[in-house]
Amino acid sequence: MLSAEKISKRYNNNRRQILDSIDLTLDEGEFVAIMGESGSGKSTLLAILAGILLPEEGQVLFDGKDLYSLSDAELSEVHRKKIGYVPQSNFFLKNYTILENIVEPFVNTNDADPEELSEKALAHLDRLGIKDLADRYPHELSGGEQKRVALVRALLTDPRLLIADEPTTGLDSETGKIILQYLSDYVASGHSVLVATHDEHVKEYAGRVLDITKI
Ligand SMILES: Nc1ncnc2c1ncn2[C@@H]1O[C@H](COP(=O)(O)OP(=O)(O)OP(=O)(O)O)[C@@H](O)[C@H]1O
Ligand SMILES: [Mg+2]
Repeated sequence: MLSAEKISKRYNNNRRQILDSIDLTLDEGEFVAIMGESGSGKSTLLAILAGILLPEEGQVLFDGKDLYSLSDAELSEVHRKKIGYVPQSNFFLKNYTILENIVEPFVNTNDADPEELSEKALAHLDRLGIKDLADRYPHELSGGEQKRVALVRALLTDPRLLIADEPTTGLDSETGKIILQYLSDYVASGHSVLVATHDEHVKEYAGRVLDITKI
């Protein structure tokens, strides 16, 4: 489903090569974790694979099509429906409630029914144990609660591929396990998940664990 070939990246023409000819393939129904020390390029790689950050060299093929050769409209369609992405840092609109933050990216498209989206969002929040936070504002949530909200937003349209950057970092192990089990269930229902993490617990859930310095 996702295949990256010879991905290389430096920032701002800096001499330091962050990613050097990385190859990676992810199949339907796979849960893959990428590990490696801080600064090794995990977030850079995930953003490239998600179609958010242009690589210097190489291709990212999703269903055989190069993400970076798609038009803006085609790429936003992919982001709305096929690839969910949870960045490492939480991003929320501060004057919107949690529920609004989750559905907002999807409501102004003609193929989405806002009520249906809200219902789906609430069902996810409920399963993650934070439904009662739906009407609060982002600053009123803890870091772990915010992580779960970001996950719900990325899962809202049931994307075939979920890319999550450090989904459990900084959380207590109980909350971390809730999230990992959620990702695992998502994979079991036929989706694919790719995470970058420092969390050793991921090894109990992921089908493949890759060291970024060895791919
Ligand atoms: N926008 C940027 N401009 C310049 N350098 C950057 C930028 N983003 C990241 N870097 C550098 O690229 C390297 C890789 O960063 P990246 O965030 O991909 O690492 P990481 O493996 O995700 O680290 P962590 O485990 O701390 O999240 C780091 O040395 C970082 O300083
Ligand atoms: Mg990172």
